[in-house]
Amino acid sequence: MRTKQCILSEKTDLNQITLQGKQDAAIVAAAMMYEAEELGVHNVWLRGFDSKVVAETFDLPENCVPVMMFAMGYPTEETKHSDWHFMRKPIEETVTVL
Ligand SMILES: Cc1cc2nc3c(=O)[nH]c(=O)nc-3n(C[C@H](O)[C@H](O)[C@H](O)COP(=O)(O)O)c2cc1C
Repeated sequence: MRTKQCILSEKTDLNQITLQGKQDAAIVAAAMMYEAEELGVHNVWLRGFDSKVVAETFDLPENCVPVMMFAMGYPTEETKHSDWHFMRKPIEETVTVL
């Protein structure tokens, strides 16, 4: 069964989605990713898509603007992380403590 789950927004213009709306969507999305992982469903975050095309393709209601998608799937025996998965920048490069 395919369902349409809409992650937020009350506005149809992506540029008009409030910062709060984007933050809310990100929080919900992160929780969904953790839960999926907990259930054994691996997933990655995707933002490189045209929201309008996706909305049209999935016939979403006008007040539903896709702000991110996930690629999800069960790993196989052969599944392995890319080398980049384990590369980390020093925390000082990504976090500023005020
Ligand atoms: C905000 C954000 C947007 C992303 N958008 C895309 C995307 O559009 N397409 C894509 O292939 N990966 C995208 N990625 C990267 C994947 O979600 C993932 O981080 C990457 O494949 C590395 O996964 P790994 O560390 O588990 O190996 C995005 C990551 C972030 C944090």
